[in-house]
Formats: sequence, structure tokens, C-alpha cells
Amino acid sequence: MENIENLKKELVAEIEAAQDLKTLEEARVAITGKKGKLTAMMKDLSSLSVEEKKEMGKNLNLLKAEVEKALDQRKSLLEEKALNEKLAKETVDVTLPVRPEIQGRIHPVSKIYEEVVAIFGQMGFSVAEGPDIEDQFHNFNALNMPANHPARQMQDTFYIPNPDSDDFDDSYVVRTHTSPVQIRTMENQQPPIRIIAPGRTYRSDYDATHTPMFHQVEGLVIDKNITMAHLKGCLYDFVKAFFELDEIPVRYRPSYFPFTEPSAEMDIGCLKTKNELKIGAGNDWLEILGCGMVHPNVLRAGGIDPDVYQGFAFGMGIDRLAMLKYGIPDLRTFFESDVRWLKHYGFNALDEASMTGGLSNNGGANR
Ligand code: PHE
Repeated sequence: MENIENLKKELVAEIEAAQDLKTLEEARVAITGKKGKLTAMMKDLSSLSVEEKKEMGKNLNLLKAEVEKALDQRKSLLEEKALNEKLAKETVDVTLPVRPEIQGRIHPVSKIYEEVVAIFGQMGFSVAEGPDIEDQFHNFNALNMPANHPARQMQDTFYIPNPDSDDFDDSYVVRTHTSPVQIRTMENQQPPIRIIAPGRTYRSDYDATHTPMFHQVEGLVIDKNITMAHLKGCLYDFVKAFFELDEIPVRYRPSYFPFTEPSAEMDIGCLKTKNELKIGAGNDWLEILGCGMVHPNVLRAGGIDPDVYQGFAFGMGIDRLAMLKYGIPDLRTFFESDVRWLKHYGFNALDEASMTGGLSNNGGANR
């Protein structure tokens, strides 16, 4: 018994002497490993008498449990120590000056995001957000698309099972557009409302101009006496500011969205040649966004009385805007994380987009 006590002290001392995880592992192997001290003692039990075996076996098992506990404790301690050492070593000195030659680049999507926020920010819009994983109420129903509405098939939706329900109507979706943020905003805010909602959206689609994850920016204005003229003026000012042109031809074509009535698509004038697309001149048209007057059913779903308030909404693809403005031909390259691509199409981190300092800063000369 005394031997066992001494042995315990000896083994625990050996464990506690380990100053790093590697030494500790060596100690563990030497004690409880296949050829370890304790393992050997367990094996020796077979040579003892039945009585001795009973007594010794019990003691050895207790000893083993204690040794294993000591090993575990030492392991957690050393792991924590290793982590702390690593964290201390890896600290970044944020006060160091930027070294432009090795500095990272701002992704064109982030750049357009900043530009859009700067433009609408100056018009008095604030930025609203919603979750990427939505319920069908916000993504569809409240936007005047009840279950089985054919328009749900316009969007190639990714559904996510609801762990609490087998009913398909309860399954979640990754939002197919930023329009659910319209509803979330109405639920939380009384008019006047003037928001934009930039963010990620998802549809099952993949080619040079479609990726399963893409970005949109939604706009929503609700107040008394809002008309289509407000929508047109607002979007006209936006495209001029965005493309950094004094004049730009625009036209609105009638369209259909379940959540707006009337609905329209906005085109801007451009010149398409074989290798070039010039925005703001020429006889061609380019579709850039969907818009319309908020449908009374949508206002009602958001808890707003359509007899008192009206509104307009619009939605556009941020990635598509980036492709147009910065002449990037393939959308898939946006999300491939190729450093060479980012070097070419990315932006200087210090050039923040602003309406006073310049949106894209000399049309991208500082890239
Ligand atoms: N949500 C529409 C889409 O993704 C765009 C849109 C937004 C149209 C708001 C009208 C009003 O295609």
C-alpha cells in the first residue's frame, strides 16, 4: 500500500514536470502506454495469488484513474499555455504604417456596396439589414406570393429543412432576394421609411452572369403622397451619381413583380460594340434594375395602412453593377479568391468612396 502511495507521488510528479505537450505525451506513453510502467504492473498481477490479486488489482485501478486525471489536467493546462503563447506571439501591431506594396485590396463588390451606400446616404436613406436564412413568410408570403403562387418558381430557391417541422411550408430558405428586408423594416418602423438594404442573396443558377450566391441592394421609401415620379427622380439621380455622368438616358419598361403594382424595369442608354460597352451614349439599352410602387397587400403584411401611405421599392444586383462599371466580364471570377484577379480588379484600401471625395476615385485610376 505504501508502495502504491509512493508510486502515485512519483508518477504525478513525472506528469507535473512536463512543461510542454510533447513531453507530457512521452510521460503518458511511459506510464499508461502499451509498454508503460503501470501497464506492466497490471500485467504482473497474473503472477499473484487470488487474494493478493484482488487487493492489488483494486489499488492499481484506483491509481490508474488518478494518474489519468492528472494527465488530463496537465494536458488542459499545457494546451491553454500553448494557446496563450501563440496568441501573444501572433499579435498584430495595428499602429504600424500601411505598406502599399503588400497591402490587400478591396473587392469590387465591397467597393460598389460603399458607393451605393454613399449615394443613397446623401439622399437621406439609411441602411437596413435582414438575415440570409429567411422564413417563407418574409421571403414570399408577405411579398404577395402565397404558397403555390406561380411567381415562386421565378426564383430558383434553395430550401432549408426546419428541424421542428416536417411541413414543407415551414421550411426555411436562403433569401432569394433582399425584398424580405422591406417587410422586416415595416414590422419594426413606422413611416416615413427610407432605407436601402444591401446584402447576400441566393438562387440555384450558375453561368457567366449568375452565381448561386450574389448580392443585391433593395430600396424602400414609404410616406404619404409618394408617387411614381418620386421613384423615377430618385433612381435617375442614383444612376447619374453611380456612373459618374452628368447626363444619362433612362427608360422604364412595364414589368411584373408580385410585390409591386405597377412594376417596371429601368434601362440605361449605352453603346454596345463588339468589344466594348459604353454607358451613357448610343442607341442601345441595358436593363439595370426592377422597381415599382409597393403593392397594397405588401403594406398590409407589414402592418401599414395602404389608404394612408404609399411607397416605392427597387432592387438591383450589386455584382452586375460592378461588372458594368468596372468592365468585369465573368461573374464567377468574383468568388474564386484568385489573388491575381483581386490585384487587377480590386481597389486601394485607403480610397473610401464618398460623394465629396469621389466615388470610384478617378474612375479607378488608383486601383
Ligand atoms: N426582388 C426583385 C428581384 O429580385 C427586385 C425588385 C425589388 C423589384 C423591389 C421590384 C421592387 O428580382
